[in-house]
Amino acid sequence: MGGDGRVYTVTSAKGGVGKSTTAANLGAMFGASNRETVVVDADLATPALTSHLDCSSSPSLHDVLAGETEVDEALVEHVGFDVLPGTPGAAAFAGVDIARLRPVVGTLRERYDVVVVDGGPGLSHDTVVPMQLADRVLLATTPDEASVEAAATTAEVAERVDARVEGCVVVKVTDRDQLDDVRRRLDAPIAAAVPRDDAVPRSQDLGKPVVVAAPSAPAAKAYWALAGRRPETD
Ligand SMILES: Nc1ncnc2c1ncn2[C@@H]1O[C@H](COP(=O)(O)OP(=O)(O)OP(=O)(O)O)[C@@H](O)[C@H]1O
Ligand SMILES: [Mg+2]
Repeated sequence: MGGDGRVYTVTSAKGGVGKSTTAANLGAMFGASNRETVVVDADLATPALTSHLDCSSSPSLHDVLAGETEVDEALVEHVGFDVLPGTPGAAAFAGVDIARLRPVVGTLRERYDVVVVDGGPGLSHDTVVPMQLADRVLLATTPDEASVEAAATTAEVAERVDARVEGCVVVKVTDRDQLDDVRRRLDAPIAAAVPRDDAVPRSQDLGKPVVVAAPSAPAAKAYWALAGRRPETD
């Protein structure tokens, strides 16, 4: 993956299925591949990248979407890539205008080689716009039926708005047979199968993507395969 698209949006209608984890790890992997990369927290209602990546969120994308701050002010440097974080809370959410995301992503497209957009859960204008702005949409799902169903619905919505689905990232896989079920139910190629791995939440507790904090962990190896690059520690 990579090279044929600049803006990747990681999304699914369902919550808690690995969207932010995948976005953060993609950011770290593209960054480590010498591509100027930014990860945008477009989960406007419940932004979580600041906790995944232990970075500050003041000012944030919310301030930019409220028309109060320029993009430059809100960008935060992380290790090897930049982050455009969001601010949790009702006050920040109430002030945003999602229509402003288009020019924001347009600016980032000009500045960065790769823009990774972390989408929020649900299907609404707020989650469809990030799909429309993407060159490639990546679906995130766990192997359970409800999650795969939500990914399938998300893929249909993406198709309806002419967004291009690159594939799905299946997280918390415990058994390869689960992937056959995903293939049967979801009309999108499996881009990565990431095993359930405690190294993922442990890395998040350290404020780092697992590909950085524990590059040899099984989940990290699966993510590195997604980026077409093997960990140097292998
Ligand atoms: N491969 C994995 N192994 C174990 N735990 C994982 C794995 N991938 C993600 N998790 C955990 O699952 C939880 C949900 O992941 P994440 O926050 O990435 O999902 P999300 O889809 O972004 O959620 P939300 O919809 O709330 O934004 C997190 O606690 C994360 O640590
Ligand atoms: Mg998330």
